[in-house]
Amino acid sequence: MDQKPLNNVLAAAAALARGDLVGLPTETVYGLGADATNAEAVAKIFAAKGRPHFNPLISHVVSLEAAEALGQFSPLARKLAEAFWPGPLSLVVPRQPGCAVCDLACAGLDTIALRVPSHPLMQQVLRAFDKPIAAPSANVSGRPSPTTAAHVLEEFGDRIALVLDGGPSAIGLESAVVAVTGDQATLLRLGGLSREALEAVAGPLLTPDASAKAAPASPGMVLRHYAPRAPVRLDGSTADAGEVMIGFGPGFDGADFNLSSSSDLVEAAANLFAMLRAADALNPCAIVIAPIPQTGLGEAIADRLARAAEP
Ligand code: TXA
Ligand code: MG
Repeated sequence: MDQKPLNNVLAAAAALARGDLVGLPTETVYGLGADATNAEAVAKIFAAKGRPHFNPLISHVVSLEAAEALGQFSPLARKLAEAFWPGPLSLVVPRQPGCAVCDLACAGLDTIALRVPSHPLMQQVLRAFDKPIAAPSANVSGRPSPTTAAHVLEEFGDRIALVLDGGPSAIGLESAVVAVTGDQATLLRLGGLSREALEAVAGPLLTPDASAKAAPASPGMVLRHYAPRAPVRLDGSTADAGEVMIGFGPGFDGADFNLSSSSDLVEAAANLFAMLRAADALNPCAIVIAPIPQTGLGEAIADRLARAAEP
């Protein structure tokens, strides 16, 4: 591991464009960034973080205007954005039709989390890269969030192209996450903004329903993911008449879809949500999915598929 903190915005933008991971400073915490429009790059985030399931990620953009190209802002969402952006607020809003951010970054949801960070170096990267950047906090799952470039190197030194050193994070707490649908705002995560500050602008905030509170340790598990209309059959080897086959590995080159013909789990994760949607769009009587090895990202893929197979 020989990466050094490197104050080079253009190198960071070039690494993102190549599909590499980069450590990026924000005013809240350091992020593990990837091109949000590139599903294979985003799959590398999940592989590096070692999460057993796909949590949706925040897409970082340079301005409210850039955010409105990706998400649908009601007047209330716009009011919150205008009050707190750039800054420590992430807004979850419905995705725009044709939203450029990949399905994997949104974990297959029809909503997207968007944030305009205020850190000047991050702003420069966003301007140089000119695309949304998906970035969770740059810590391995279950470890504290990093607030210095050195922390990011400790966590991911051998997995990232570089880390930009923007000094210690000024806030040191993750952004507050607020979901806005129409004139209703729900506080999903407290963070670098107080409830009082948010409510002074938005009025009283709703809290997530009781089912969400039942499993606070795993927010990804309680989100309503996109579920195919067709029934899903797991661990299948062939599709019967009227069914659609999603294969995995070289044995499935004749299948309707193949998550990865070379058995690459990062490629499979990148294809997962888009292939589920495409298979479902064929209106099959069932979607048959080949066995997926339960190692590395295979665990998160299996978790998602098990939920897709729930009646
Ligand atoms: O301060 C921060 O927010 C940092 C910096 C790097 O920006 N990022 C961060 O990302 O904390 P992450 O992935 O660790 O947290 C994202 C949060 C999760 O709680 C996730 O469940 C929620 O945002 N989230 C993202 N998209 C969502 C969606 N479509 N619906 C509901 N929650 C969503
Ligand atoms: Mg985190």
